[in-house]
Amino acid sequence: MSKENLKEWWVVRKINVFDTTLRDGEQSPGVNFNFEEKLQIATQLERLGVDIIEAGFPASSKGAFQSVKSIAETVKGSSVTGLSRSVQKEIDAAWEALKNGEEPRLHVFIATSPIHMEHKLRMTPDQVIENAVESVKYAKKRFPHVQFSAEDACRTDLDFLVKIIEKVIDAGAEVINLPDTVGYVTQEEIRNIFRYVKEKVPNSDKAILSTHCHDDLGMATANSLAAVEAGAGQVEGTINGIGERAGNASLEEIAVALKIRNDFYKAETGLTLNEIKRTSSMVSKLSGMVVPNNKAVVGDNAFAHESGIHQDGMLKEKSTYEIITPDLVGVNSNRMVLGKLSGRHAFKEKIESLGYKATEEELKKVFEAFKSLADKKKEITDEDIFALMSEEKAGE
Ligand code: KIV
Ligand code: ZN
Repeated sequence: MSKENLKEWWVVRKINVFDTTLRDGEQSPGVNFNFEEKLQIATQLERLGVDIIEAGFPASSKGAFQSVKSIAETVKGSSVTGLSRSVQKEIDAAWEALKNGEEPRLHVFIATSPIHMEHKLRMTPDQVIENAVESVKYAKKRFPHVQFSAEDACRTDLDFLVKIIEKVIDAGAEVINLPDTVGYVTQEEIRNIFRYVKEKVPNSDKAILSTHCHDDLGMATANSLAAVEAGAGQVEGTINGIGERAGNASLEEIAVALKIRNDFYKAETGLTLNEIKRTSSMVSKLSGMVVPNNKAVVGDNAFAHESGIHQDGMLKEKSTYEIITPDLVGVNSNRMVLGKLSGRHAFKEKIESLGYKATEEELKKVFEAFKSLADKKKEITDEDIFALMSEEKAGE
């Protein structure tokens, strides 16, 4: 490795990826994976290289318990975790489901915002702290790894957050997750929360801070990246951003943003990025949640170029309109969509890619025919080109 590369290697932080497609993702209205589908997705997530797979909420049902257990026993390349409220019976159920895994890991949570403590938990802040500390200590008697989540952290009083985090780290939590449970904060606010916690929690260097953003205001990816900027060492999300209400942060967007802009974030995940498209298609098919065509990174149009100016630029030099190469995420090639805005250059490339050779005269005529067809039809398919070319050849 050259000196230059060595320098780069040192400055890029590795960000852990925590995938919750099978837990928060399955909380999407209408989504219900069966046992085989969960195993299939978990195996693909392992191939994608996620660090941690949240396989489900073992205490929530017999089916959830069984699938978390099977995933923990099958998947060896990623750490498998399960969710539990701060309740001993649920921690026990999670242990039974996870104990045969490679690195049993518990994800235990309790809400810390005034709204949740008062209306949902009906507990005082001191009771919440006591309960959280007891749960983490109880979990640590069994689990080698414990993550604690302060649900609704981003609407929590910051000094209370600092207090509870210090105590759960002392109790043995090694990952502290600060979720934006309702997708409410702005990028500046989440940066401030992470910086404040890092600075004010005296033992913060003993734990990894994790970010878990929801997409209610369409800011989950941006907020996750802002948290990384402010020191988060783990990002949580789902494939295709599926999840409660408007969903979770899309892991594929975060991973690709960190890869493409590592000059800015100085951080990257360890994902095998060319497994992204395959993973996205599998989750879309099994969840029944169609990926919108214009979705970043995995949408069908993410690498398609329609206007003549763009197609011409792409044919001359791809970096004119392409910041992500399709093969980076496992997509075979750029798709040139021929339509009324396409230019001669793109049209010529297209007919040549279909095996035709046209003289300048033929090209002129068939391009005119193509333009008048494109005025009537949104997208010109290969079949349309075959028809245009055979008409032209027949008329010779
Ligand atoms: O959004 C959230 O707060 C959660 C927690 C259970 C981590 O999903
Ligand atoms: Zn969530």
